[in-house]
Parts: sequence; structure tokens; C-alpha cells
Amino acid sequence: MELEKVINERHSTRAFLDKPVPRETIEKLLTLSTKAPSAINLQPWEFTVVMGEERIRLSKVLVKSMRERNISCGPGAVRPLPEYFMDRQRKLMDCILPHLEKGILFQDFINEGSCNFYGAPAAIIVTIDQVFSNARLVDLGIVIGYMVLTAHNMGLGTCPIGLISAFADEIKEMLNIADEKDVVMGIGVGYPDPDSPINQAISDRAPIHEVARFY
Ligand SMILES: Cc1cc2nc3c(=O)[nH]c(=O)nc-3n(C[C@H](O)[C@H](O)[C@H](O)COP(=O)(O)O)c2cc1C
Repeated sequence: MELEKVINERHSTRAFLDKPVPRETIEKLLTLSTKAPSAINLQPWEFTVVMGEERIRLSKVLVKSMRERNISCGPGAVRPLPEYFMDRQRKLMDCILPHLEKGILFQDFINEGSCNFYGAPAAIIVTIDQVFSNARLVDLGIVIGYMVLTAHNMGLGTCPIGLISAFADEIKEMLNIADEKDVVMGIGVGYPDPDSPINQAISDRAPIHEVARFY
């Protein structure tokens, strides 16, 4: 597929078909995604792929912990957000809300959905060794960007899940991830459910003049 088409078509998938993704498909996805550039070619990313029953078992732990500790998706801001960021957050909510089943609260859908990887048959947990400073998180962002586009090109849907980093201890224990690794993100991967209304929710973007300056 042409890159521009892939970029324009890709959106986060929040409803998946009950159809497993073969291990070879995930391996191909990782092989292509890790063509991403990284500083000094360090390739500081590490992946733990959790599939099928194991993914469901992991999600049960995450949902339990999320409810007990009252964890919720948030912007990760250290100060109150300026109005234009608040506006973008509100717009995402306005875009998703009309596609939710009646009676389901937006925050519940996002929090429970995120912990469940929205029902994706595979979850990719992205970690980084604590030997690195936060500067190397840029490299992880780039590889994840490659991954969501590559997945779309392969007919797969993805949803990046930042919320799960709140459950790093639980995840590390369940998946035998070494103490000296940080859990950065999760990515739900599977075949999108084409009939699910939630997959019709398409978020917009700020116009270029709001985010770029030219000299
Ligand atoms: C770093 C990062 C963390 C995210 N965390 C979550 C999350 O925890 N739960 C969720 O439902 N979506 C999450 N998303 C998906 C965003 O909400 C989504 O990418 C954004 O609204 C733009 O929509 P689009 O991906 O459909 O273009 C995350 C995306 C990124 C890049």
C-alpha cells in the first residue's frame, strides 16, 4: 500500500475480531517496525508479546488493579493544561462518545477497554532498560509509530495503550520482565471488527498553522 494512504487510513482500533494473529505475523510486524531509526542505532526497545489466554489472564490482573487503585487515563501533565490542549481532549471525547453503547461512561470505556487491550488477541508490551535516560523514550515512540503504520499495511488494527504503564509492577511480575526494565507502553494488535461502531470514530488533527511555525 502507498505510504500516504496508510497514514491517512490508520486509526486506533478499539474493537477486534475474535481471530488470533499468528506468531509469524507478529514476527513480521516486529521485523518491519524495528527498521525504525534510533540514536546511535542503539535500538533500545524491547518487546514482550502476550497472546491468547495469556493476554486474557494479564488483562484480568490489570482490570482488578485499575479498579482497586482507581487508576484512570490522563494527559500525564505536570501542570494544568492550557485551554487549547483541553479543547483537543474534549474533541476526542466528542468523537468517541456518539459511538459508545448507551449507558456506558466514556472514562469506564477507556479505562476498562485499555486494560483489556480492547479485546485484541495480542498485546505487545514495550519496555526499555533503566540504563537509559528519558531521552531514549523518543526511540520507542518512533518504533511504535512504525508499528502502528506497518500493522495497518498488513491488515491489522492497533491501539497504543499508555495506561498500562501504571501497572508496571504487576506486568513485570506476570511476564517475568527483569527488575531493571521500565514498562513504557502496550499495543493491542488484532484484526479490526469492521462492523463495530467504535471503529468508525475518527479523531481529527489540529491544522498545521496551530502546531508549526516557519521562518
Ligand atoms: C503514547 C500514547 C498513549 C495512548 N494511550 C492510550 C490509552 O491508554 N488508551 C486508549 O484508549 N488510547 C490510547 N492512545 C490512543 C490515542 O487516544 C489515539 O492515538 C489518539 O486519540 C488519536 O487517535 P487515532 O490513533 O485514532 O488517530 C494512546 C496513544 C499514544 C500515542
